[in-house]
Amino acid sequence: MNRRKNLLSILFLLILLASAKSDAPKTAKHFVLVHGSCHGGWSWYRLVPLLKSAGRAVTALDLAASGVDLRRPKELRSISDYFRPLRELMELLPVNERVVLVGHSLGGLAISQAMELFPAKVSVAVFLTASMPGPALNISTLNRESFKRQGSLMDSRYTYDNGPNNPPTTFTFGPVFLASRVYQKSPLEDLALATTLMRPLPLFSDEDMSRELMLSKNNYGSVNRVYIMSEKDLVFNKETERWMLKNNQPYDVVKIRGSDHMVMMSKPLELFLHLQSIVEKYS
Ligand SMILES: *[C@@H]1O[C@H](CO)[C@@H](O)[C@H](O)[C@H]1NC(C)=O
Repeated sequence: MNRRKNLLSILFLLILLASAKSDAPKTAKHFVLVHGSCHGGWSWYRLVPLLKSAGRAVTALDLAASGVDLRRPKELRSISDYFRPLRELMELLPVNERVVLVGHSLGGLAISQAMELFPAKVSVAVFLTASMPGPALNISTLNRESFKRQGSLMDSRYTYDNGPNNPPTTFTFGPVFLASRVYQKSPLEDLALATTLMRPLPLFSDEDMSRELMLSKNNYGSVNRVYIMSEKDLVFNKETERWMLKNNQPYDVVKIRGSDHMVMMSKPLELFLHLQSIVEKYS
């Protein structure tokens, strides 16, 4: 068993070296990585050096009020304020540059908006165990369906900054939930990092999200789109995921084995290799 594992590692290393050599300037693609709820650009720290070693440019950005972004949740009036850093990055790209967008978890909503607004600047969008609304699947319906099958959030917390009779304004994963449902296959060091770096996720109304996330066949639908499933993900209910994929079919679905919700922490090398082949196929 151990021997097989060693062989596999060597094989991965060889592939890594080969791709680092041959890919360098020719297909140097810019990867834009968008984190999920309560996380930040830091969550990609294992994947970033792998992509860079293969000659890729990488931006692992912080959405507003996330990671080391200085804004606070209550300064954000709309989900579009939360996504602003990604829109700003997309606006500043040279006209002829096309990036690879990767959205993890709730980051799927951010990249969906970017696909709708800048379809010509995206070579492929990768949804990594992520929310994926579409032209025929609006965000209200997707939220309602996800909510139906949502398991216990354990020690996660909501805050009610507009008073107890109004909807919650932020959400934060609790350490017990992170350990048992989110990072259960990831290194303990990464769980420790996450429990230190969590920031409250700003929450927005259904009306706001529906208005800001209108996705059309002409724009959003014109972008290459791949979905990556994570086998041992305990956050995204499998039935909801299947239902979502049926109602908003991507071009390709790939599956990573043995990973938890944090694929970039639990299986960074496998994720890297899949991203490499996705880019080969769609550029
Ligand atoms: C979302 O889709 C459902 C079902 O197709 C529809 O009934 C509802 O009005 C839509 N909501 C919005 C905000 O577009």
